[in-house]
Amino acid sequence: MKKIILTGDRPTGQLHIGHLFGSLLKRVELQDQYDSYIMVADVQALTDNFNNPQKVRDNVFEVVLDNLAVGIDPNKSTIFIQSMIPEIAELTIFYSNLVTVSRLQRNPTVKEEIKQKKELFKDSVTFGFLGYPVSQAADITVFGADLVPVGEDQLPMIEQTKEIVKKFNSIYGNILKEPEALIGSVGRVKGLDGNTKMGKSLNNAIYLADEPEIIEQKVKKALTDTKKIKIDDKGNPNDCMVYYYHKIFSQDNLRNIETECKSGKRGCVHCKKELSENIIKYLEPIREKRKYYQNKPELVREIIENGTKKAKIMASETLKKVKEGMKINYF
Ligand code: TRP
Repeated sequence: MKKIILTGDRPTGQLHIGHLFGSLLKRVELQDQYDSYIMVADVQALTDNFNNPQKVRDNVFEVVLDNLAVGIDPNKSTIFIQSMIPEIAELTIFYSNLVTVSRLQRNPTVKEEIKQKKELFKDSVTFGFLGYPVSQAADITVFGADLVPVGEDQLPMIEQTKEIVKKFNSIYGNILKEPEALIGSVGRVKGLDGNTKMGKSLNNAIYLADEPEIIEQKVKKALTDTKKIKIDDKGNPNDCMVYYYHKIFSQDNLRNIETECKSGKRGCVHCKKELSENIIKYLEPIREKRKYYQNKPELVREIIENGTKKAKIMASETLKKVKEGMKINYF
């Protein structure tokens, strides 16, 4: 039997190169070896977008397109929509007895997000948002996932899942599997402005769907060494986001870029042009594949429907065992 992978994306916007290196490439690499489940986490997206359902709805399709575009093969991976598997919501309720409020409040990712969402949550966070790690534990365990390929920021979620599994198994019998996190190749990718996180709200991301002109414009605005003003000023590549991305996209010429910049032989305009060309070239096959699926909405729909059916079978088998263990299997 193949081992199981579960991972997911919140449909709150298109996916960007942070997702690509943090998680998507790993998914593609692993889909041959593992039984892979890819969840479009619409319920989780609603925890902080409950007032904007249309946005979540529209981005379900976008996120599926992004996954297909990077090479997720629907014959190897199961793509499905979270809300179509109500077993996840049931399981969330059961798990919520096993997690304290203060434990959730200490979850570093949740803590950070609540801080960022001051405007939405004002002086008190919702029950649903504070509890989304519990729901995420349900996402992972309902499929009996062995591995969860995620970005670094998701490690606290996996930790919390493991705790829930241990507690559940100690009370109701050895029913659930403890998952392990698997971090992407590059880990977290910083934004164009140097922010440690790339994101839509920060307006510092390069999306997989971005057209060449857009990429060029964005790279032009990327943060460079503020002390390097004239072409022949000596630069410090470590203070430059353009160099930071060269490290990802321009491996072949990296040594050269560094030496030229440090010795004042490389202007930022040229350096940015070289970078945007490399990014555009790298993303081209992804952009093409994305367009292919975008023009076949019926095919994409079929992929999601078939995936959801398969996911549903797996989830209901787990729920059966869980309810037996919890002694709520009446008839
Ligand atoms: N929390 C993840 C994110 O923000 C998305 C997600 C939801 C997820 N459920 C998951 C990731 C289960 C891995 C496993 O990116």
